[in-house]
Amino acid sequence: MHLQFRTATPDDASQLQALVKSAYRGETSRQGWTTEADLVADDRIDVKGITAKITAPDGVVLMATDDDGALVACCEVVKRSADLAYFGLFAVDPRRQGGGLGRQVLNYTEDYCRRIWSVTKLEMNVIWTRDELISWYIRRGFRKTGKSKPFPYEELVNGAALRDDLYFDVLEKDLNTRTAASADAA
Ligand SMILES: CC(C)(COP(=O)(O)OP(=O)(O)OC[C@H]1O[C@@H](n2cnc3c(N)ncnc32)[C@H](O)[C@@H]1OP(=O)(O)O)[C@@H](O)C(=O)NCCC(=O)NCCS
Repeated sequence: MHLQFRTATPDDASQLQALVKSAYRGETSRQGWTTEADLVADDRIDVKGITAKITAPDGVVLMATDDDGALVACCEVVKRSADLAYFGLFAVDPRRQGGGLGRQVLNYTEDYCRRIWSVTKLEMNVIWTRDELISWYIRRGFRKTGKSKPFPYEELVNGAALRDDLYFDVLEKDLNTRTAASADAA
């Protein structure tokens, strides 16, 4: 599928919140191949939280739509310093996962960060238990930094965590290194 990309505006916050919730948490997320449904039972983020990301001066929420204009995927990127951007809020509609859309979105986002911000590194956080997802990022050229970050137990939205041993592994990718996988998909 050929995706169209654009930056989100506050009017998009509601549909973005629905997409993120459906991909990360709850029963709908089990239609995808990787989910946090067994780890956390909350909404992941609310409309207010998405709006704050959309309007943040140092970041953007990117939306990917299909030929009919329907939202199929999203992510956020935040410029953290002259050479580093943060990547997060990455979601593909669970009914459309496993067909290469995630790879397309990541490739577009890496290109966006290089083109618009000239950053050389992309950093992200993944819950440490998600081996299948960490392997996916490693196949895309990320590496484990050995650093970790606390899981935001106090900031969950309309729900609670299902485990008390969660934290994030910090992954990083050098955007100057073109991996075989990203070259294939470009
Ligand atoms: C992570 C996510 C964005 C990827 O999107 P996607 O469209 O499924 O990604 P792609 O189709 O490009 O890639 C699918 C990959 O899953 C692999 N895969 C498919 N089924 C799998 C399974 N049961 N177990 C492990 N890997 C599997 C495929 O082999 C493919 O990897 P490859 O391209 O290296 O061969 C999407 O799964 C998602 O929204 N997940 C829920 C939210 C989330 O966890 N976000 C990331 C938080 S850090």
